[in-house]
Amino acid sequence: MALISFARGMPGPDLLPIGAFGDCAREALERDGATALQYGPPGGYPPLKQWVAEQHGVDPGRVIVTNGSLQGFAFTARHFVQSGSRFFVEAPCYDRSLSILRKLGAEVEQVELADDGLDVDAIAGSLREGDVVYTIPTFQNPSGRTLSLENRRRLLDLAADRNAIVFEDDPYGMLRFEGESIPRLFELSEGSTIFLSSFSKTVAPGIRTGYVILPEQLVPAIEELVLSNYVSPAIFVEAALLEFLTSGRFEPNLETVREGLRLRRDAMLSALEREMPEGTGWNQPEGGYFLWLDLPSGVAAETLLARAGEEDVVFIKGADFFFHGGGEESARLAFSFATPHEIDEGITRLGRLVREAAAVAA
Ligand SMILES: Cc1ncc(COP(=O)(O)O)c(C=O)c1O
Repeated sequence: MALISFARGMPGPDLLPIGAFGDCAREALERDGATALQYGPPGGYPPLKQWVAEQHGVDPGRVIVTNGSLQGFAFTARHFVQSGSRFFVEAPCYDRSLSILRKLGAEVEQVELADDGLDVDAIAGSLREGDVVYTIPTFQNPSGRTLSLENRRRLLDLAADRNAIVFEDDPYGMLRFEGESIPRLFELSEGSTIFLSSFSKTVAPGIRTGYVILPEQLVPAIEELVLSNYVSPAIFVEAALLEFLTSGRFEPNLETVREGLRLRRDAMLSALEREMPEGTGWNQPEGGYFLWLDLPSGVAAETLLARAGEEDVVFIKGADFFFHGGGEESARLAFSFATPHEIDEGITRLGRLVREAAAVAA
């Protein structure tokens, strides 16, 4: 039996613009080869910074293009931890961000995540000046949940009232395949939040290109961190990416990616509906890569994962996404990689194991 993975949050091979990106690499060299193959400034390839700035209506001086957005998260988080800020994170939250905060020795509070995003009321009692609220508001990793417009406004009002910082991580927002889009926190706050995004999900993870938009006064400190970690970001790739973005290839690629993800999500939802026993719950994300599975009471995700591995189907157990504990009876299922057919087969295998485990737990 071939392994079916719902574990890694990465695109299936059919969602990668292999030929088009190759053409862009050649065109970038023809257009600006001497710059593209040279060291560049710490904030990234200037014309790409300009493009990003125009998309978000900000001065290019506020944009730092990094080798993947996780790098932007790491630099920004390090700055705030060193300045003594406390972090509020969603529970569950992207595990790699959590492990960076852990390694930095950050003081972290976890905030319950409801169906409509983080529980703003839960932080109202304790949020204070200088705190950072790190949120992935749209098609969240790991849950696929989205912060509602109303909660976005309430979060921004609360943060403004307390002089707290909202740090928005949005790699999935452009991957909406149904429903109405909701403005980013960055837009709703007229650019006063910190905004992090990535081209990993809209173009390809292998290009390792993401960016952070910062308040102007923070840029020198973060560029300093860039310079102490690498001489220069990957300018050649950034130049090829700019070609991709400005030559009419980006939008059609987004359409292909969205459609591919929608088909995968639909395959997962109908297989879950068919296979899972009573007491299992899951959400229906309108975009992104993931959904969150709540197992029947008494079914431990860790035990299920061990059994699933024997049946060649894998996922990530929910507990990995909590800073202070939780999620023992939950799992993250990524529908981004496997084909719809494999998803159907993988959920069939998993459903059988959940039914067996639920019968034992009952
Ligand atoms: C919420 C979130 N932030 C950041 C990243 C990292 O993205 P990048 O590949 O740009 O480093 C991911 C990737 O899975 C993610 O889900």
